[in-house]
Amino acid sequence: MEIPLGIELSLMEILKGEDYPIEAICGGMAICGTCRVEVLNRDEIMLGGPNDDELCMLETLPCYTGNCRLSCQIKIAENIDGIKIKIPSDILV
Ligand code: FES
Repeated sequence: MEIPLGIELSLMEILKGEDYPIEAICGGMAICGTCRVEVLNRDEIMLGGPNDDELCMLETLPCYTGNCRLSCQIKIAENIDGIKIKIPSDILV
């Protein structure tokens, strides 16, 4: 998927806008975990680590690998160019 730069959106908002099956119940406040994704190529991109709010939420979730992130906390920017993600089957709607 090609996403233009310069838009103030999160990855979650892009996924929802493209009708990917995630709920994102809290609307991006990092308190529901229903926008969770697995970043498959974290070593290849400059994603950076989760902020404190995201980390607190991630610690409560059944993340199967250390590459679990909240897509609502990932902003669309050049640093995620080439990101590869998987939506865990347990959160699909
Ligand atoms: S939308 Fe709720 S944690 Fe991301």
